[in-house]
Amino acid sequence: MLQLPAPFDEFKVPRQLPYHRLTNFCGQENILHEMGDFLTVSTAEKGSAWKRAVIVLQGMGGLGKSQIALEYMFRNPEAYSAVFWVGATDPSTVCDSGRQILDLQMLIAHYSTKYYGEDKFPDGATDLGIPGQIMRGCEVGEAVAKTPWPSIHRWLARERNSRWCLVVDGLNVPEDEERMRALLPACDHGHIIVTSRITVTEFKIIEVLEMGKASSLKLLLGDSFETASEGTREAAESLAKELGFLPLAMAQAVAYMVKRALDMVEYLKRLISNMTTRYTGETTPTYRKGVVSCWQLSVQALMESNMTNSITSGLRVLGPRWRIKRAPSTRIECHG
Ligand SMILES: Nc1ncnc2c1ncn2[C@@H]1O[C@H](COP(=O)(O)OP(=O)(O)OP(=O)(O)O)[C@@H](O)[C@H]1O
Ligand SMILES: [Mg+2]
Repeated sequence: MLQLPAPFDEFKVPRQLPYHRLTNFCGQENILHEMGDFLTVSTAEKGSAWKRAVIVLQGMGGLGKSQIALEYMFRNPEAYSAVFWVGATDPSTVCDSGRQILDLQMLIAHYSTKYYGEDKFPDGATDLGIPGQIMRGCEVGEAVAKTPWPSIHRWLARERNSRWCLVVDGLNVPEDEERMRALLPACDHGHIIVTSRITVTEFKIIEVLEMGKASSLKLLLGDSFETASEGTREAAESLAKELGFLPLAMAQAVAYMVKRALDMVEYLKRLISNMTTRYTGETTPTYRKGVVSCWQLSVQALMESNMTNSITSGLRVLGPRWRIKRAPSTRIECHG
């Protein structure tokens, strides 16, 4: 837990995190501690106002960067007066997504109910720098709805409002870095957590690597971590290795096993058989073979279910040349 000065109630707004907490979150303790230590130091430096601190969680896709940022928020529920979560991957999600409108409505609700009362919407709008743009029921005017972020930006930059955290999630390509920098409010306060696949300089970098063996076993074995037989444990160890200790792939494997009521040993057999059929003497790194085979199995079984989206997002880890081919038979292919 962070040691914090008393919160600035004036700027406290309810948190709206974009995802639920993972009930089976495993490992990553060192990273969570390092984040806490760094942000606490920055907090202590300036007494009651918080100095700007930026942490970049850096690592390849599927290693669990976003989940670490989320877990950090859940473990420190009282640390911040406000938390904003911005997706940096797609330009359209940055400035005018429904999410930012929700964030803005949250601010409007905060101002209108806490400080002004039902009949004082105009004052709340002025305070947010968007005079005349807040309607009854916390609706925002058309002009602001198109680009809600600048209003939030201005609010975050206010001098006394220093105890917020902004998560900029998902820097994937070099162009995203510029977009991320533009998102940082022009002030010297606030905590910012960036998740990134690309190298970003200047800030505190925390490298996210493959998951450790013990945490991988926890992820794969779940509730049976303590009680699993020797055979199951060995199969889980082999599976973790074949999947490169990649949390995304391991989570996908667990979902497949649950859906197919398959045990670890059977799943491993299937995975290895799929890998052997597909790869004969190729130079693809072993973990990629395992990861692709894992998704191939999932795709074959789940094409018609709503898990295809997560498989498609999982394929991004392997790079843009990988995609699901739907017809005549469903399979994952590498193009180019
Ligand atoms: N610590 C963890 N414990 C259990 N499962 C995890 C953990 N971290 C990640 N996962 C699983 O892996 C999936 C991918 O994680 P996440 O989205 O955080 O990866 P990422 O590094 O942010 O990837 P990308 O670069 O594509 O955004 C999660 O949806 C979850 O199922
Ligand atoms: Mg992510």
